[in-house]
Amino acid sequence: MKNIVITGGTSGIGLALARACRDRGDNVLVVAPDPVKGERFIEESEKRGAGKRVFFIPADLSLVSENKRVLGEIADTFSAVDALVLCARFFRSYRRVTAEGFEHNFALYYLSRFLLSHGLVESLRNAGTATVVNVAGPGISGHIHWDDLELERRYDGWEAMFQGGKLNDLLGVSWAAAHGDEGIRYVLQFPGGTRTGLAGEFDPATAAQIEQMKLNAAKSPEESIVPIVDVIDNPPAGPLTALWEDQPISLNQSSFDINAATRLHRLTEEALSRR
Ligand SMILES: NC(=O)c1ccc[n+]([C@@H]2O[C@H](COP(=O)([O-])OP(=O)(O)OC[C@H]3O[C@@H](n4cnc5c(N)ncnc54)[C@H](OP(=O)(O)O)[C@@H]3O)[C@@H](O)[C@H]2O)c1
Repeated sequence: MKNIVITGGTSGIGLALARACRDRGDNVLVVAPDPVKGERFIEESEKRGAGKRVFFIPADLSLVSENKRVLGEIADTFSAVDALVLCARFFRSYRRVTAEGFEHNFALYYLSRFLLSHGLVESLRNAGTATVVNVAGPGISGHIHWDDLELERRYDGWEAMFQGGKLNDLLGVSWAAAHGDEGIRYVLQFPGGTRTGLAGEFDPATAAQIEQMKLNAAKSPEESIVPIVDVIDNPPAGPLTALWEDQPISLNQSSFDINAATRLHRLTEEALSRR
């Protein structure tokens, strides 16, 4: 029986994973913004006799303050965390800045994952062997706007999403360099086109593209979680692994450059201390 924390666990891939882990006997803590969906997951779990093994923390993870609160609540719930699975995301065609002053996609898709990955190190260490699974898009092409990480000068929703994937790659690199020798594994995983809600706020052109993506998506969320469950049960040997669905991709490419990862880590800490 493992203790599993899943962000974005009330929809799509996160929900399918939460159900699968619950149904096989794990303790599952889901973090997501909508209390109604959270309550629905709890009720569904109670009906299946698993009410005592599921937990829900409502939170807007685009806010640094909320991530900090969530870290405290996770520590109050589990003394050890066997797996942290990061699935929360929200597409925005129009640039939005959070109440704390961060661009929304940067805050939710990257900064929250930075805060939770680093903030849970002690709980992960307590598990002995633990895995962080950052579900995103490792190794994808794209550009990091080093002088404008929050795309203030020229925002585009797709650009923000693709850049977020690249930032998560570098997060994996610097995180694994810092903690990989402590028995904790970091896995960057691309789930493949999956039939989920693909939630977001879209302009008309993007809304049409998203509908097409949903029609073309080859896999159900239940199919997409198979490699995620596998790395939770069989943590890879190396500190960092990047998977394209269930296939490892080479870390020997610019997406995983340690100097860029160190630079991003420093810039992230500076941005956090400034705001
Ligand atoms: N589906 C695909 O084809 C695909 C392809 C490539 C990569 N991925 C990656 O796979 C992961 C899961 O994707 P998905 O398709 O399952 O996404 P999804 O169905 O859109 O679910 C996203 C989850 O994030 C939650 N969320 C949204 N805003 C949040 C906030 N402010 N704070 C906390 N949680 C928030 C959502 O809450 P609600 O439940 O309330 O909506 C939902 O649970 C993502 O990282 C995505 O980038 C997916």
